[in-house]
Amino acid sequence: MQIIHTIAELRAWRKQQSRVAFVPTMGNLHAGHMALVDEARKHADAVVVSIFVNRLQFGQGEDFDRYPRTLQQDAALVATHCDNAVIFAPDEKELYPHVIQQYKVEPPAIQDELCGAFRPGHFRGVATVVTKLFNIVQPDVACFGKKDFQQLFVIQSMVEDLNMAVQIVPVDTGRAADGLALSSRNGYLSEAERAEAPRIHFHLDRMQMAIRGGERDYAKLAQEAIDDLKARGWVEVDYIEVRNSKTLKPATHTDHELVILVAARLGKTRLIDNMDFVI
Ligand code: PAJ
Repeated sequence: MQIIHTIAELRAWRKQQSRVAFVPTMGNLHAGHMALVDEARKHADAVVVSIFVNRLQFGQGEDFDRYPRTLQQDAALVATHCDNAVIFAPDEKELYPHVIQQYKVEPPAIQDELCGAFRPGHFRGVATVVTKLFNIVQPDVACFGKKDFQQLFVIQSMVEDLNMAVQIVPVDTGRAADGLALSSRNGYLSEAERAEAPRIHFHLDRMQMAIRGGERDYAKLAQEAIDDLKARGWVEVDYIEVRNSKTLKPATHTDHELVILVAARLGKTRLIDNMDFVI
């Protein structure tokens, strides 16, 4: 497994490849990330997995410093899934030589909604680092997880709006057997919190079934979930919303393509999840 740390080396490697598929990550890789690697392999002979904990997308008081950094373990896991993969793991000086990134990619109003309302600047940080990584890796295809549905939406619309020559491939959310979406942040949960965490998936399922059964009072469905989570000791429910999965606008009663999105805090850990479906 080749681990490349510099932009110059990555560019030299890229020149020798034809089609390249790309999986951008922040590392501490798990089976959810591996589903992206498996998908990437279907689209190109060569796969790049980037591992970079991007300071620009973390807010004050968020978990940038304690975010798990497990490069050797990550490289070993990628090697079990893909023979022809390289890991691109630049350090901060390599990607941000001026300390402060001078040019930033500014997403439209969606960056202030849902997660953006609770994490100001987050999607600007994501759009900026993903643009830089696309410019470095120059992939033909890039895989993103539906786990981060709003992020996927921001990246897809950025690529379209800025005419970036990369095909974005969405990948379904990988889950534990009890329904909890796999996430590097699950490692922060205590044993008791880990046992409680699948309650989010329970509510996504419950709301989906109610909507399929004809319920259209989305606010009522969301409030029931919020009340239940609060009663069970969740610290805060940032949002539970039903939106149009294609536009990410609040769902109307005539929409058929829907997504339910949740962000909630269990102890010190903020968990997000979502479920998209067609009625
Ligand atoms: P990270 O959280 O490491 O996730 C990397 C990619 O893996 C994202 O596309 C994310 O949606 C996907 N992913 C994470 N958990 C998943 C799961 N359970 N099932 C399917 N896919 C999953 O997202 C980021 O990093 C960063 O914001 C990044 C795009 C790398 C920019 O810094």
